[in-house]
Amino acid sequence: VSAEKIKIGILGSGGYGRTARGNLRTGGEFDIVACMDSNEEAARTAAGEENAAAVTTMKDLLAFPDLDAVSINTPIPLHAEHSLQCLEAGKHILITKPVARSVGEARDVADSAARRKLAYMVGHHARHEPSILKMKQEMEAGTLGRVCNILVTCCSSSGLVQQPGDWRAEPGQNPGGPLLHCGIHLLDVLRSLFGDVSSVSAIMQEEITSYEAIDNTLTLLEFENGVQAAVVCNYTTAYMHTLDIFGTRANLHHHQHITDLGREKLYLQVQREGPHEPWEKIEIPEESAVNRHGGVLEKEFARQIRAQDFDYENLRESIAALRIVEAAVESHKSGNRIRIEDYR
Ligand SMILES: NC(=O)c1ccc[n+]([C@@H]2O[C@H](COP(=O)([O-])OP(=O)(O)OC[C@H]3O[C@@H](n4cnc5c(N)ncnc54)[C@H](O)[C@@H]3O)[C@@H](O)[C@H]2O)c1
Repeated sequence: VSAEKIKIGILGSGGYGRTARGNLRTGGEFDIVACMDSNEEAARTAAGEENAAAVTTMKDLLAFPDLDAVSINTPIPLHAEHSLQCLEAGKHILITKPVARSVGEARDVADSAARRKLAYMVGHHARHEPSILKMKQEMEAGTLGRVCNILVTCCSSSGLVQQPGDWRAEPGQNPGGPLLHCGIHLLDVLRSLFGDVSSVSAIMQEEITSYEAIDNTLTLLEFENGVQAAVVCNYTTAYMHTLDIFGTRANLHHHQHITDLGREKLYLQVQREGPHEPWEKIEIPEESAVNRHGGVLEKEFARQIRAQDFDYENLRESIAALRIVEAAVESHKSGNRIRIEDYR
């Protein structure tokens, strides 16, 4: 790849693929040359929007002349199979989260990428958001004192409209339910703030919706540094995404509600003597579009391809987050607290 734009194909062009295409466009590093989707209509619509070729088979996508890379946005159960096919064809990969459905699948993918010396990045963009970086800064400055616990919610009602037959509704295709599909963003964020997790316990519900996959999860994490977190993650209630960090001097509250999407709020609550401990608003630094949602990963993906410099750090981190989901499901099924071994 020279100084020219990197030629990229989109695999899974509808659904989340639409957002992924937008993120690739924003940074100006990529030329989207082909849009593949097994749904012909989705391929055609995306190709029209990107001024690219519409393709409906993997063979045609991988045979596209001078294709450097593939952006994978297909359903989770297809991530490993699609990654292995693209890596075998010598393509660099940027894939949406999670890297795969299981740690076993993810390790096969990681081995293949490393063996072939190809870039492989997973779309865990949340840890790079300005709000999360600001929270990290406040903790490092000692504003919170000693952090004791964390409370996370990651809730939406999207599971209530899923039908049997949808991949999200099948336990074999979506083994962690909402924790695998959405909550993994927050697990990655927590790892970026507090490091390695030492143990996981969870209880889950499977019978709120009519389908068999898990639809409601409550997970307790213990970090190696002693911090403890409770993560409520479901598909069955109104939208609410929050991250509250409780310290001996002050608390940080990061709240995002559906009416406020894109207008997230961050508050500091300092302990005082007496009854008034108000929530004071903290400004979240404004970043350029390219540094916000998605941009950081796309830029780093392009850098690695141009420099042929692949450290796979983001891939290792994505497997560590996936291991937490696997341990949570294992804990729910066995009733045991699961210890996490080091995944590095
Ligand atoms: N913020 C985020 O990072 C975020 C948000 C939502 C979804 N996602 C991820 O995006 C992925 C897709 O989720 P979705 O909700 O868009 O799913 P989806 O079921 O809408 O599928 C996405 C697209 O893939 C296509 N597709 C399905 N099977 C295919 C195949 N065999 N070959 C080619 N194309 C195929 C579909 O036709 C559709 O256009 C998931 O991995 C999900 O975790 C990420």
